[in-house]
Amino acid sequence: MDVRARIVGLGKYLPERILTNSDLERLVDTSDTWIQERTGVRERRMVADDESASTMAIEAARVALAQAEIDPADLDLIIVTTITPDGLFPAVASRVQHGLGAKRAAAFDISAACVGFLTGMATASQFISSGAYQRVLVVGSEALSRMINWKDRSTCVLFGDGAGAVVLEASDRGGPLSFVFHSDGSGVHFLYAPGPCGPPATTKTDDYYIAMEGTQIFKFAVHAMESSAREAVEAAGLALDDIDLLIPHQANLRIINATAKALGIPPERVMINVDRYGNTSSASIPIALREAWEQDRLHDGDRLLLVSVGGGLAWGAMVIEWVPLGPVPVAAEAAHIAAGS
Ligand code: UT7
Repeated sequence: MDVRARIVGLGKYLPERILTNSDLERLVDTSDTWIQERTGVRERRMVADDESASTMAIEAARVALAQAEIDPADLDLIIVTTITPDGLFPAVASRVQHGLGAKRAAAFDISAACVGFLTGMATASQFISSGAYQRVLVVGSEALSRMINWKDRSTCVLFGDGAGAVVLEASDRGGPLSFVFHSDGSGVHFLYAPGPCGPPATTKTDDYYIAMEGTQIFKFAVHAMESSAREAVEAAGLALDDIDLLIPHQANLRIINATAKALGIPPERVMINVDRYGNTSSASIPIALREAWEQDRLHDGDRLLLVSVGGGLAWGAMVIEWVPLGPVPVAAEAAHIAAGS
């Protein structure tokens, strides 16, 4: 029997502070209409001064572990995916391990930009399938607002902060059925942030802001999301009609809609929350997954298609078989009662 890595807990953390499009109108030459039409974003969250990728990851992880009814001390491994670590080292996962009191857990970070969370899930599920570990926590956590040039209207309207967490446990069903990943490093310069350790000739030490050629990324993104999604569905031995919910990286509503259209997946089978959080890089898919659960959109045996593209360039997709978690959320329960079901 194959050992599968079933999702047994989901968590999210969004900082309290909301930055609306009208707030941005006061910072740069932009408009709510432009931002909504071109990106679908209405607002995004921003970390407080005492928050960071590690503090948000700990909050999201606590929610996921409580739902899974797993004691942090029973975790075997913690993987944090982030491009906005508290520092260059040690790993954010080490801070999370300490913060949670996960005394037995190994800890490391994965840096794969917006594909980070899927990469973390694939890594975790292989540790579980091999029999090496039983319980693994994967958290995507990003404090992107710390890396934004607030004078650059072409990037500052897009990104937001937040964290999403998943607890995986060895099981006989559920979890990833397939995954595919690709990269093309010739596109590094389309989306990147310099750091303090690059060659001095090419790095200004006071400028670590995100730099992006948005239109290039946009064109590439739709094709990459569509092709990797098709590959992952095929690798799972399924057809696109078998997919119950598409959970795409929340970068831009136009990219999401174009990808869903290219795949022939109707809007009611697409998870969208980019309007409220903007692009949270590796946190976007686990936050969307958690919210799909909160909205009672995940049912026993559902096949979920997760797909992402971002800096690297790197892109990939994963098919997950859903097995229900604990009790349905109160709001969803109330909706059922109201609907008489
Ligand atoms: O996780 C993956 C990471 N990144 C992405 O997925 C981003 C992918 N790219 C995009 O989402 C889009 O390319 C953007 C939303 C960034 C831009 O949309 P676009 O339709 O590609 O617009 P554009 O870059 O072609 O710009 C059109 C115009 C330009 O003015 P001109 O040259 O036509 O006069 C820009 O200067 O819009 C201007 N512009 C803005 N105007 C108002 C760019 N940013 C803004 C802004 N407000 N915030």
